[in-house]
Amino acid sequence: MAPSSLRRWAATVVLLVVVLGLAAAEGAEGGGDGAALMAVKAGFGNAANALADWDGGRDHCAWRGVACDANSFAVLSLNLSNLNLGGEISPAIGELKALQFVDLKGNRLTGQIPDEIGDCVSLKYLDLSFNLLYGDIPFSISKLKQLEDLILKNNQLTGPIPSTLSQIPNLKILDLAQNQLTGDIPRLIYWNEVLQYLGLRGNSLTGTLSPDMCQLTGLWYFDVRGNNLTGTIPQSIGNCTSFEILDISYNKISGEIPYNIGFLQVATLVTSRK
Ligand SMILES: *[C@@H]1O[C@H](CO)[C@@H](O)[C@H](O)[C@H]1NC(C)=O
Ligand SMILES: *[C@@H]1O[C@H](CO)[C@@H](O)[C@H](O)[C@H]1NC(C)=O
Ligand SMILES: *[C@@H]1O[C@H](CO)[C@@H](O)[C@H](O)[C@H]1NC(C)=O
Repeated sequence: MAPSSLRRWAATVVLLVVVLGLAAAEGAEGGGDGAALMAVKAGFGNAANALADWDGGRDHCAWRGVACDANSFAVLSLNLSNLNLGGEISPAIGELKALQFVDLKGNRLTGQIPDEIGDCVSLKYLDLSFNLLYGDIPFSISKLKQLEDLILKNNQLTGPIPSTLSQIPNLKILDLAQNQLTGDIPRLIYWNEVLQYLGLRGNSLTGTLSPDMCQLTGLWYFDVRGNNLTGTIPQSIGNCTSFEILDISYNKISGEIPYNIGFLQVATLVTSRK
C-alpha cells in the first residue's frame, strides 16, 4: 500500500471506531430512546400541545409521562392516558427495549396495534383500553414473556383471540372485553395457573364453554357475558373453586345449572337470559 492510501485507510479505521464507540455509548445511556420517543410522538396525529415538552432535546426522561432508569436513562414507563391523543401507535415503540409499563388508555388512537410491540421484551403492563384500535391482536404479543397485565378492552379489535397468549407464563390479567373478537375461546388459555382475571364480555365469540375452564386455579373473575357462546354449562363447573365472579349471561348457553353448583364459592353467578 502507498503511504497516502495507508493513511486514508488508518483514518477510516479511526473514524469507524469513533462512530461505533459513540453508537455504543448512545445505546448504553438509553440515548436512542429519545429518538424513539420522538418517532412515537410523530405517530400521534395531534400531540403538539399535549406533548409540547417532547422537544427532541437531550433530557427525554423529564418529558411528560416518561419515567426512566436513573442510571441508564432507558425509558421504563410511558403513561399517556387520557390525553386525547389521536393517530396511531408507531412501530418505533418496539425500539424501547427497557419499557416495562405502558398506559395509553382513554385516547382516540386508531390503526392497528403494531407487531413491533412484541419487541418491547421487558413489558409487564400494557393498557391500550378505551381507544379506537382495530385489526387483529398481533401474535407478537405472545413474545412478551414478562407480561402480567394485558388490557385491550373497549376498542374495535377483530379476529380471533391468539391461542399463543397461553405462552405468556406470568399473565395475570387478560381483559379483551368490548371488542369485536370472533372464534372460540382458545382452550389452552384455561391451563394458565396464574391467570386471575379473564374479561371477554361483549365480543362475538362462539363455541362452547370448555370443561377445562376449571383448570384456572388462580382465577377469580370470569366474564363472557354478551357473546354468542353455545352448548351447556360444563358439569366440572362445581370444581371451579377459585371463581368469585362468573358471568355467562347473554349468550346462547342452554341446559340446567349442574347439581354440584353448590360447591361453587362464587359471590356472583349470572346465568340468566340466554
Ligand atoms: C397514569 O397517569 C394517570 C394520570 O396521572 C393516573 O391516573 C394513572 O393511574 C396512571 N396509570 C397507571 C396505570 O398507573
Ligand atoms: C350472534 O349471532 C347472531 C346470528 O349470527 C348475530 O345476529 C348476532 O349479532 C351475534 N351476536 C353477537 C353478540 O355477536
Ligand atoms: C372435580 O374434581 C375432582 C377431584 O379433582 C374429580 O375427581 C372430579 O372428576 C371433578 N369433577 C368434574 C365434574 O370434573
